[in-house]
Amino acid sequence: MILEPYLQRQRQRVDRFLQRAVPPEREPLRQAMRYSLFPGGKRIRPILALAAAEAVDGSTTVVLPFACALELIHTYSLIHDDLPAMDDDAVRRGQPTSHRIHGEALAILAGDALLTEAFRVMAEATAKLGASQQAVQVTVEVARAAGARGMVAGQAADLGAEQTVPELPTVEWIHIRKTGALIRAAVRSGAILSSARADQLKRLTRYAEYFGLAFQVVDDILDAEGSTERIGKAARRDRFRRKATFPAVMGVTAAKERARELLGQALRELQPFTQRADPLREIARVTVDRVCTS
Ligand code: IPE
Ligand code: IPE
Ligand code: MG
Ligand code: MG
Ligand code: MG
Repeated sequence: MILEPYLQRQRQRVDRFLQRAVPPEREPLRQAMRYSLFPGGKRIRPILALAAAEAVDGSTTVVLPFACALELIHTYSLIHDDLPAMDDDAVRRGQPTSHRIHGEALAILAGDALLTEAFRVMAEATAKLGASQQAVQVTVEVARAAGARGMVAGQAADLGAEQTVPELPTVEWIHIRKTGALIRAAVRSGAILSSARADQLKRLTRYAEYFGLAFQVVDDILDAEGSTERIGKAARRDRFRRKATFPAVMGVTAAKERARELLGQALRELQPFTQRADPLREIARVTVDRVCTS
């Protein structure tokens, strides 16, 4: 399959939903929220949720609000990640970071509001589904993935590990949480809302765990080798801040090998699935191929 037209189609669906969820208004807070949301980034988390639903013949219409809630959470995490107190970055998604445009206070609040809106969107969708057990489960899983044992825990550990000499298990611990948790929740949400069988859910979960870790390894490699033009954010920031990254602990070449290995593991989990899982397969391949062409 050719991935790009598929991604474009899904991005459009996601963007249409997000436009309705966070409509244009004149209030500065709303403008700050929309500044980070649009035009946005790759939308990989919502697309993974939709693709997971497709892999098990589910309804993407049911999944869409939950998928978009994940993008709201992800966007909040980026705004906060870029703040001077965190990574102190000036460029995001090809434009100045939120706090550079709106000031730190409004950037913090835009993040707060996006996070809260995500749970409003999921609660409304859950109500529409007659509080289905699956919708409730997904909301709980997303909360866990985003919160104090998931993404936020990873972000805290990431900051705590700056300037240290990290070891591989520590870096993996951080990456699995700061990035892996939300990606795992995305895939699982699509599958759970589609009433995936237990064996399917297990395999999709492992796919997401391997791919989620690979995704952050690739992000680390892109920081080490990419350009602002290519990645839409300043490069070489991780070395400057002495971040705990895969290239820092094993070098870029070994990090690339690790990313390839994780890709292989992710793809193996999808073996029993039909071609309806091709988008999941291709998303993983294309992500890793961004840094490992061979
Ligand atoms: C960037 O995520 C931060 C990480 C968790 C690696 P993405 O690479 O998905 O960023 P966008 O959403 O496309 O901008
Ligand atoms: C961020 O990791 C993970 C988040 C939860 C936002 P990074 O700090 O490496 O992400 P970038 O490189 O700034 O996008
Ligand atoms: Mg960070
Ligand atoms: Mg950062
Ligand atoms: Mg990074």
